[in-house]
Amino acid sequence: MLLVGLGAVSTTTIAGVCAIRKGLAPPIGSLTQMGTIRLGRRDEARVPRIKDFVPLADLQDIVFGGWDIFEEDCYAAARTAGVLERADLDAVRDELEAVRPMPAVFDRRYVRRLDGPNVKKGKNKRDLAEQVVADIRAFKERHRCDRLVMVWVGSTEVYMKQTDVHATIESFEKGLEASDDAIPSSMVYAYAAIREGVPFANAAPNLTADIPALLQLAAKTKAPVAGNDMKTGQTLMKTIIAPGLKARLLGVRGWYSTNILGNRDGEVLDDPESFKTKEESKKSALDYIFQPQLYPELYKDLCHVVRINYYPPRGDNKEGWDNIDLVGWLGYPMQLKINFLCRDSILAAPIVLDSALFLDLAARAGMSGIQEWLSFYFKAPMHAPEVYPEHDLFIQLMKLKNTLRYMRGEQLITHLGREYYD
Ligand SMILES: NC(=O)c1ccc[n+]([C@@H]2O[C@H](COP(=O)([O-])OP(=O)(O)OC[C@H]3O[C@@H](n4cnc5c(N)ncnc54)[C@H](O)[C@@H]3O)[C@@H](O)[C@H]2O)c1
Repeated sequence: MLLVGLGAVSTTTIAGVCAIRKGLAPPIGSLTQMGTIRLGRRDEARVPRIKDFVPLADLQDIVFGGWDIFEEDCYAAARTAGVLERADLDAVRDELEAVRPMPAVFDRRYVRRLDGPNVKKGKNKRDLAEQVVADIRAFKERHRCDRLVMVWVGSTEVYMKQTDVHATIESFEKGLEASDDAIPSSMVYAYAAIREGVPFANAAPNLTADIPALLQLAAKTKAPVAGNDMKTGQTLMKTIIAPGLKARLLGVRGWYSTNILGNRDGEVLDDPESFKTKEESKKSALDYIFQPQLYPELYKDLCHVVRINYYPPRGDNKEGWDNIDLVGWLGYPMQLKINFLCRDSILAAPIVLDSALFLDLAARAGMSGIQEWLSFYFKAPMHAPEVYPEHDLFIQLMKLKNTLRYMRGEQLITHLGREYYD
């Protein structure tokens, strides 16, 4: 598993997998490790674990590698991130110290609040992409891996829109040659992975693989892709609560969300251009869940505000507040307050693991390009241009599980249930 960025989320993922495979902790939060799937009729009582139902890679077989602009090994990086307790890190110290970051493709233009020494030099972006390809091949060879998966868990890059450079493989490759500004570092990694047929997931909100050029390349090389921006804290809660309010046809006039966060991610997001990338990603969920075009009386004028404030004393332990202004029967107002004291990387780590394992499975099942069934894990799910993204967590879960049933030739579950009463 190749992780771009060995920061809080990556090191928590790696340390967690090492601890779990030593039997030191349970894989809480991971659908691949703990989830079950119902098969057939409800009265058949066939409910295997997902990992026994589909042939996922075994945690014991995973080798980790990655890139970062800092030279610290994964143990030191995890200490810097400050998410896990020292005793938990010391229990897997040898495994963590063995993961040393390869030099990164990095340009401060795209992440303005960071700078580090462990950076590749190249004559243009094409040269940098070739260096990443060489890293991928060397890693595979050195660790005798059968298969690879790459996940971007690097910092959030500045806001970008699709341009002509992103339109086709040819225009993109010309752009690499010319070091076009419209190609940020994350796209260089995504290009290298997809060209090698390596499944790619984007855990951050950057544009990255979500451009026609890289999707065309994925179709050619049969690489599955998923993204964008993992759905963890406040947005996870939003996509749990909002479908419930909509199911009961309760109106929503306003949804105000604010967060305080003190880790490096928070520091990067303190730059307005990186925040804009995050804000766009965080704001899209409610519009799609509430469907104001179908329910104008309930949701047309919804005022949705999202704020993230960098507040160092909190470190990775984010605190989020949501105030929801509801409207009930005859237009009577109500309020709902949510105060979520969460841990960002603790919520993110199982998602990185699951999306990597499922992408690897997708590749083996011959499924390439956008893996919409993995929308479950993302705040701004990638989707075909002709359909809207599905944000409702419960529909996403049903889609994911039905995809697994479909892969194994099991009957899809519609929840109709007439058969028990006819
Ligand atoms: N933790 C969550 O709940 C969560 C949820 C959704 C998305 N994310 C996103 O995941 C990403 C990682 O979050 P984090 O908390 O681990 O952040 P972090 O700042 O701790 O780690 C990011 C790492 O990426 C490295 N990096 C930046 N640019 C790089 C490049 N071009 N090449 C290689 N390394 C690079 C940085 O040096 C840093 O070590 C962020 O973009 C964040 O917005 C996190």
